Amino acid sequence: MPRKIIIDTDPGQDDAVAILLALASPQELDVLGITAVAGNVPLALTEKNARIICELAGKPNTKVFAGCDAPLKRPLVTAEHVHGKTGLDGPDWDDPTMALQPQHGVDFIIETLRAEPAKSITLCPLGPLTNIATAFEKAPDIIEKVEEIVLMGGAYFEVGNITPAAEFNIYVDPEAAEIVFKSGVPIVVMPLDVTHKALVTKPRNDAFRAIGSDVGIAVAEMTDFFERFDKAKYGSSGAPLHDPTVIAYLLRPALFSGRHINVEIETKSDLTLGMTVADWWGVTDRAANATFIGDLDSEGFFELLTSRLARF
Ligand code: RIB
Ligand code: CA
Repeated sequence: MPRKIIIDTDPGQDDAVAILLALASPQELDVLGITAVAGNVPLALTEKNARIICELAGKPNTKVFAGCDAPLKRPLVTAEHVHGKTGLDGPDWDDPTMALQPQHGVDFIIETLRAEPAKSITLCPLGPLTNIATAFEKAPDIIEKVEEIVLMGGAYFEVGNITPAAEFNIYVDPEAAEIVFKSGVPIVVMPLDVTHKALVTKPRNDAFRAIGSDVGIAVAEMTDFFERFDKAKYGSSGAPLHDPTVIAYLLRPALFSGRHINVEIETKSDLTLGMTVADWWGVTDRAANATFIGDLDSEGFFELLTSRLARF
């Protein structure tokens, strides 16, 4: 039986690759819906981009919902400097023709968790945690029904990419992240510590392009654009494929390694707002609440990703 998942996302080129990887894997993953959230770019663009990617995948019947357009308590911070004005810069995209679902993404999350058997749905947040936290606040009864949350966000050894202390997804809505990390739901975290090891080197991007399909070429063109920020800032050898690590973990967890530790979110200090304070070395008696991933088999990750993208 394929695992039922809801992808919560702010596309974003790396979100787009994660969505493609999930839609390429119907034997293992049943994507019940995709809920867009404001993050990399405003909601009107993230929901549109999610539909563009579903059409690129040839899956126009995928249910795409618009969720929250701003963080719980703060003004939205976006990342056009990384993802471009559209959030999906690189290829030239036609406007999507598939419909956006009329239901609010938060209500879809609540309704689906209430309707499905307990512990049968995995939530896959790839952006700020606003939709997830809003659903938990609006309908606390669904919290115990969630099987697992596998999210991209945070950092420890890698520290911040949007401030010296914080990773973007957590920084944009730290109050939402605090609600999610304190919810008691089993959480697996893909922080920058691991995603910065999933770099699209030139041979790897050439392999995407060599697939030759619309999907392969689009992924290569998105990566060509998306890699600029990290190459300039970190001198890295390619774009870090942050969000696809979430889906790859569901498909092949043995590619990843980490520790079950305590992770708490800074929500007060302006200096370190949004920092994921990960007790990697176990120096506190704070209860473990998350599996914090620190490493991956990057060759295995790219083999999996490239072979799945070639399926379209
Ligand atoms: O910090 C990286 C994360 O922020 C990724 O999810 C990327 O898409 C952006 O949302
Ligand atoms: Ca994202």
